[in-house]
Order: sequence, then C-alpha cells, then structure tokens
Amino acid sequence: MKKLVTGILSLAVVAGLGLGAALAQGEEAGGEEHAAGATPHYPLHKPEQQDWTFAGLFGHYDKGQLQRGLKVYTEVCSACHSMDLVAFRTLEHGLGYSDAQVKAFAANYEVQDGPNGDGEMFARKAVPSDHFPAPFPNKEAAAAANNGAAPPDFSLIAKARGIERGFPQFVFDIFWPYQEGGPDYIHALLTGYQEPPEGVQVAEGTHYNPYFVSASALAMAKPLSDDQVTYDDGAPQTVDQYARDVSAFLMWAAEPHLEDRKRTGFMVMVFLLILTGLVYLTKKSVYANKEH
Ligand code: HEC
Repeated sequence: MKKLVTGILSLAVVAGLGLGAALAQGEEAGGEEHAAGATPHYPLHKPEQQDWTFAGLFGHYDKGQLQRGLKVYTEVCSACHSMDLVAFRTLEHGLGYSDAQVKAFAANYEVQDGPNGDGEMFARKAVPSDHFPAPFPNKEAAAAANNGAAPPDFSLIAKARGIERGFPQFVFDIFWPYQEGGPDYIHALLTGYQEPPEGVQVAEGTHYNPYFVSASALAMAKPLSDDQVTYDDGAPQTVDQYARDVSAFLMWAAEPHLEDRKRTGFMVMVFLLILTGLVYLTKKSVYANKEH
C-alpha cells in the first residue's frame, strides 16, 4: 500500500515538472513561430523591465520626473490623446506645484461651459477645478484625424496595459507584486519603433513596432525624437528619457494615491505582526497552568 502511494506521488511530481517545462518551452517557441510564418503572438517582443522609483514596498513618485512627464504630455501627446479624468488641481499635491502655478497652467487652456442665460454654450479660460480638455470633440473626429484609429484616453492607460508575465514570473509575483507592467509597456512602445524586418509588410498608414500589444504595427507614428522637448532641470533630452518621464507621469495619472496605498499596506503588515505577537503571548499565559 505504502509503495503504491509513493508511486502515485512520484508520478504526480514528474507530471508536474513535465508540465512546467512544457509551459516554459511553449513560451520560447512563441517568438520562433512568428519567424516561421505561423500566427504570431502579440506583442512580438515583451517590454523590458525598467527601474521605477514607484516600484516596491516603499515606492514613491519622483516629482521632478512627473513634472518633466507633464511637459512631454502637454507639448507632444496632448495633440492627440485626451486625459478626461484628470483635473488641473490634482497637479498641485501630485506634482508639487504651487496654487498660483496650477492656476497659471490651467489658464493656458480653454474649456466649453454653459449654457449661459441665452441658452448658449461658450468658451472660457480653464480654472484648477476643470479637467484637461480633449483635443477632439468626439471619438469619431479623433479616429477620422488618425487613420481610423482613435488615440486612447490617457487617464487610466498605465493601468489598462498590463503584460502577461507567464511562467515562472507569475509565481514570484504573488510574493513581490509586479505593478509596473503599464509604464514598462509604454516606455517600450515609445522607444520600440523600427524598420520592419525584410519581407514584412505593414498596412498603409501604420508604423512597425514589435512592442505594440495587439499587432505588429499601429496607427500612431513615432511621436518622440531627441531634443523635441526642452528640459530646464538638466535631464537628458533623449527619446529614452522622454519615454521614461511620460510613462511615470501616466502612472501617476492612473494611480495618484499609490504612495498612500503603499504606506497603508506597510502599516497594516506591521500591525498584523504586532498583533500576532500579542495573540501568541495571550495564548501562552491563558494556558500556562493547564495540564497538557
Ligand atoms: C498624431 C497623434 C498622436 C500623438 C501626437 C501621440 N499619439 Fe499615441 N496614439 C495615437 C493613435 C492614433 C493611437 C492608436 C493606435 C492604434 O490603435 O493603432 C495611439 C495609441 C497610443 C497608445 C496605446 C497603444 C496601445 O497599446 O493600444 C499609447 C500608450 C500612446 N499612444 C502613447 C502616446 C504618448 C506617450 C504620446 C506622447 C509622447 C503619444 N502617444 C502621442 C496618436 C498619437
């Protein structure tokens, strides 16, 4: 009987190992399949993991970086991408601007308001409680101006693009969560434009990028080039740096309370540890005089 149980157990272990190896192999084969002309897996390349100040247990935003990211967004991306859910006033606490700076920043924008007493809509200067106005009046207009593909809204994009991690990383992710998939993806996408490999045709009006999540080419042309945005804090004016800064900014836009969340999580863990100690001591003292 004992032999049988041991036999079954070792079979299960062998089967488990085999399955793991097969999964890992399947993953590697994904890339080759594409080269052989079979249905490819998108994205063709997985984004590389970057170092972010907001990663990990004590992660926090680098306000200087967020300010640079905002500059990249306003000077480049906002021509096409809206950010409907973000109000100007959140820049004050989030990016470390003063009240007056936020007021001045908002005043650069015009928003629709109304109706007035005559029942008409009118344009006025934006105030801190307004949200970033959209570059296009509606989705259809946005798509018509961009080869049929509407540029997605940026409010939550850094949270909406997580990349599947596969085996074995997802096992480790249970213990040390990986929450930077969005910014890693955006950075990879912005720096990943390249000439299509020989023999690969991309559709008219699309641009080859092996990091794009749902095809080998997308309707957005490479939006960044070196020296395009002027930084006044001495940070390098390169595509890589712009991509890094705007990705961090988009992470902040999607999750402005990340620092509070991490702090609370840490305090909860400390509290639980202390509580465990107290419960253990209580148990010891309650049963101290009992016969075992
Ligand atoms: C000229 C217009 C234009 C500009 C400027 C622009 N984009 Fe885009 N973007 C698009 C369009 C169009 C799409 C949709 C592409 C598609 O689905 O094929 C898009 C899609 C994206 C996506 C989503 C990709 C996905 O996974 O679906 C991201 C992220 C993005 N843009 C980031 C940026 C950033 C960051 C900037 C500024 C540095 C920027 N874009 C500037 C037009 C633009």
